[in-house]
Order: sequence, then C-alpha cells, then structure tokens
Amino acid sequence: MERLDKFLCDSGVGSRSQVKPILKAGRVTVDGIVIRDGAVKVDPGKQTVCLDGSPLGGKQRLVVMMNKPEGFVTATEDREERTVMELLPSELRCQDLKPVGRLDKATEGLLLFTNDGDLLHRLISPKKEVPKVYYARHEGAATQEDVEAFASGMVLRDGTKCLPAVLEAIGPGESLVTVCEGKYHQVRRMMAARGMHVSYLERRKEGPLTLDGLPRGQVRMLSEAEIQELEGNTGNMP
Ligand code: URA
Repeated sequence: MERLDKFLCDSGVGSRSQVKPILKAGRVTVDGIVIRDGAVKVDPGKQTVCLDGSPLGGKQRLVVMMNKPEGFVTATEDREERTVMELLPSELRCQDLKPVGRLDKATEGLLLFTNDGDLLHRLISPKKEVPKVYYARHEGAATQEDVEAFASGMVLRDGTKCLPAVLEAIGPGESLVTVCEGKYHQVRRMMAARGMHVSYLERRKEGPLTLDGLPRGQVRMLSEAEIQELEGNTGNMP
C-alpha cells in the first residue's frame, strides 16, 4: 500500500504540489470512486487508479541525463552547498531519482540519475566496467610514459589501486582520460600523480552516452532504447 499522492507522482502526473489541485478537482478515481485526499492508501497491484478516466501505470523506470555545471555537489542533500538535485525540474524531484556515481563540485558534464536501484548499482560497479571519458585541461603534457602508467593500473600515493585506464593527449595541456571506476577525485589524482595538475574537468561520455549538445545545467530523459543500450554496455575499454 502506498499514498495516493506518491503513486500519482511516481506515475509522472506531477510533483506533490502539482498533484494536490488535480486531486482537489476530482480528476482522480480509485476503482471508479473519486478520491480527493492524497493521504489515502492505495494498492496499485489490486486497484485501478485513473486520471481523467485513463489508468495510470505507477512507478516507471527513469534514467535522466544532466549536463552538470560546476558549483554543485553530487548529493541528494547538503547543509551548505547547492546540490545537483536542485537542477532537476520540479516534476522530476519526487521521482526518487538518485545520482549515478559522483562528479566533484568543480567538475562539469554528463551525470546520470535513476530511480532504479539495480541499474544504479550495475552502472557504478567497477566489475561492469562502464567506461567514462573525461576531458581534462592540465599543467604539462602527457608523455608516452604517462600513457603507459595509466594503462598498467596506477597506485596512488595513499595506496589506492586504480584499474587500467586510457590517457590520450589531444593537445598541449589537454587530454582525454577513460576510466571504468569512480574513486574519489580519481582523474584529478591520477593526473596529479603524473605531475599534471588538472585545472578543468568535464565528463563527456558514459558507456554509449554522450552529452550530444545538451546545454549546461539542462536535463533530458533517456528513451527505453537508450536505457537498454546502457544496460547492455558492460564496457570493454577502447
Ligand atoms: N574524477 C575526478 O577527479 N573528478 C570527478 O568529478 C570525476 C572523476
């Protein structure tokens, strides 16, 4: 059993505050009876909830892509900092979305959210090896030795062991870095360990997904086909 207003939110009708006037207007029925009180408990497995006469499907699996701007922490809540949740449009805020992995406050780019706990764990598991591609601007220039150090799996100064990663110099002080895990400040720390302090970092790719022109600070929902492609991508390193 769950609250009717939560069920309506999960079905994509709107946020809690948007759902309230819809209920008040008598547009929602449970087994044919108009219910105006969002606190009423419903059993979606046994009862039929309709909006304007059309049955609702309940919780849908959602995956949302954000182009994260710098200045926001990846957390569901934080006492001091602005969080990435604040960038979600209101109708998505009540959908139990959680960030998939983490981008640092200063890092920009592709950040996924999902309400599917299993998918979330599969995507962040280093065993699944979903490759993530980062663009880094940094001090110095990546050498062949740096490329080999990344490829052989680096051990950071504090003993953190990194899986093999791909470092590709694309210009003076500019590189692409591909990693299959998400350790704390991983790319910045790997680059720093090779004497290349990172001044700017952007995640450009995760598995098969790219930002593909999504403006900074904006979000878009992934289609079911995109979600399936993402799930199927257990990411062999390029
Ligand atoms: N590596 C980092 O150092 N920072 C990020 O935000 C992501 C990967």
